[in-house]
Amino acid sequence: MDLAHIFSNNQKWIDEKLKTDADFFRNLSQGQRPQVLYIGCSDSRVTAEELMGTKPGEVFVHRNIANMVPNTDLSVMSVINYAVSHLKVNHIVVCGHYYCNGVKAAMQSADMGILNPWLRNIRDVYRIHKAELDLITEEDAKYKRLVELNVQEQCVNIIKTSDVQKAYQDRDFTVHGWVFDIHTGKLIDLKIDFDSILREIMEIYRII
Ligand code: CO
Repeated sequence: MDLAHIFSNNQKWIDEKLKTDADFFRNLSQGQRPQVLYIGCSDSRVTAEELMGTKPGEVFVHRNIANMVPNTDLSVMSVINYAVSHLKVNHIVVCGHYYCNGVKAAMQSADMGILNPWLRNIRDVYRIHKAELDLITEEDAKYKRLVELNVQEQCVNIIKTSDVQKAYQDRDFTVHGWVFDIHTGKLIDLKIDFDSILREIMEIYRII
């Protein structure tokens, strides 16, 4: 596939931006002050800014396979540190999506090579919630529920970090668990009850 159209699209985009705001790029070059850190899946169908309708400068974005927050992953940990402690965002969103191939792969027995340790983090989510998931007989419903529980557990992983624990004490700060429904295009707030999860886990994970 020839990628020339990407560069012509880029020029069209520049022209459009400058038509409505001649200072658009000059303002962008002044710096960023995003309020939100968005952690989503790398899936090409699940964009960040487009589905939220946000503009450049509004959202700090990190994407990886199945929107994971493993505590030994230097990349996502650095993103959280920079967003929370330097950019001072007030919200972190973990956004999963139904029909996530990463979650699907973790539900199957297959040797995926270098992906094995990554997917094992999702298998751990399955193990933690095995009692609930085993009660779901319909495979599609189980798949969807694991997507939701994976979002919840990645939010819990975020709360375990010192940056986020400090932010919770210092300012108005919230972690959100969302799911994007590819079938309808709808963004769903899972309305995870973090207060009760926090009370339950902080006894173990509190570090400050
Ligand atoms: Co995915």
